[in-house]
Amino acid sequence: VDGELIERDAPLSRSRLWDLQRRWFELAGERAWSEEVLPSYVTTNPTMAAAIASLIVAWVRDGGSGGEPVAIVELGAGPGRLGWHVARALAKDAHVVPRFTYVLTDVPARTLAWWRAHPQLASAANLAFARLDVESGELPPEIPAGPLVVIATYLFDSVRCDAFAVRDGALVEKRVSLVAPHGCDLDGEHALGEIGRAWSDHPIDAAHYGDPDLDAVLAGYASLGRAELTFPIAGLRCLRRLEERSGGRLLAIAADKGFVDARAYVGRSEPDTTHHGCISIAVNLNAFKSDAERRGARTFATGPARIRLATIAIAHGAPRTAELARAWDESFGHAGPDDWYALKRTIERRYSDCTLDELLGLLRTSRGDDNVLRGCAGALFERTCETPPSQLPPIRAALAEVLDAYLWVGEPADLPFLVGTGLHLAGDPDGARAAWAIALDLHARAPRPCPRLALGGLWLGDPDDPRVAAVEAEPMWVDLRDRLVKHG
Ligand SMILES: C[S@@+](CC[C@H](N)C(=O)[O-])C[C@H]1O[C@@H](n2cnc3c(N)ncnc32)[C@H](O)[C@@H]1O
Repeated sequence: VDGELIERDAPLSRSRLWDLQRRWFELAGERAWSEEVLPSYVTTNPTMAAAIASLIVAWVRDGGSGGEPVAIVELGAGPGRLGWHVARALAKDAHVVPRFTYVLTDVPARTLAWWRAHPQLASAANLAFARLDVESGELPPEIPAGPLVVIATYLFDSVRCDAFAVRDGALVEKRVSLVAPHGCDLDGEHALGEIGRAWSDHPIDAAHYGDPDLDAVLAGYASLGRAELTFPIAGLRCLRRLEERSGGRLLAIAADKGFVDARAYVGRSEPDTTHHGCISIAVNLNAFKSDAERRGARTFATGPARIRLATIAIAHGAPRTAELARAWDESFGHAGPDDWYALKRTIERRYSDCTLDELLGLLRTSRGDDNVLRGCAGALFERTCETPPSQLPPIRAALAEVLDAYLWVGEPADLPFLVGTGLHLAGDPDGARAAWAIALDLHARAPRPCPRLALGGLWLGDPDDPRVAAVEAEPMWVDLRDRLVKHG
């Protein structure tokens, strides 16, 4: 890159890159998800949440929480959707996990304010919010001492890490130099994508981090031969602090694009970095496992080839782990949320070929996943219109499950409208009316031109409702009404 050298030979974890990263998240706040800048479906859908909840339930059954209330802390919770679904899934296992608090944590003030003002999140039983900066040396007071579950999805790829290479059997640190192209606005939201990076090798001491466990984990990579790797130092230190706060009774679950097997680093060059506004660097999950094992934790990891959603679970201090081992195998080990995602992608290419039974089977299996309904609504509604009244109840039940599970994260607000339409076609006018009322509420919170809502407003049919009046004031209304009347 031709431009100005703005940093020379910085240890990656201390690079200015991370200041720019922070600024990007601060600027974006919840818009990173409402405007679908960042991918989040894989890590926040109901299937992923159910898999995580099953680990928590198993850990409690194993005595991991010692019968005490459990605090579940999600790091970098972003859209809040994973927490929403995990808390709902756990509520179904209240006989096993009777008392828990799920604390959504993140850093951007925008995100925290958005959660607190969100009617669904703010009124949910068991949900709490706190600012927790993984890169700071402190934990917020909202995280109580005692048994903890820590969840981090697509988080450790977004926070400070270091980079190393193995050269002739010895570790060297890879430091980064940054070049900003002429005219690059370092305060702007595109800076991270424009800055060029160059790497240089620097020798390191055996006590690089001054922490026996971390230095031993790092030293272990020297045996890899020719390899390049990252070291998730901010994440490791944060988990350590949480382990301490938990009094040694911690279940940690982390999922990211990354590597669970150190051998994946052999033959690599440069950290595996993706840019989508912010940057994400494929995570060395192997380091989390190795560090925890040094203190006697039981660990679990997905297979080495499953790098798109590599997942680990770490149990510190549990008296038993038999239930956890079984739940792990069932929910992640044998097949997992990454496999669900692959399957969904296959089917979503052919929703229009699916029979009603197939679509309903998919919706139920997805646990009321709104993303599935959005994709298959056209096909589902067509099949619904061809279905005799006696066979409509399962359609109504599937739609109701979607609406019940739905958390609005600021996206164009048409899901309740879709559900309302489906219920209307499936012969449930009261259900349709209730769903459209939710759609209108969302529209009132986040006004935007939305022809589908105008349609919903028409069918809601209460001209005195000010929300309906507001929707009807939109310019497309007259046109829509005319077309609807014309088509009966
Ligand atoms: C890629 S998003 C992932 C969001 C969500 N966990 C998911 O699975 O979609 C990364 C999240 O990490 C948060 N984050 C960035 N830096 C952080 C830090 N230093 N401490 C805690 N969270 C941070 C961001 O605000 C953002 O919510």
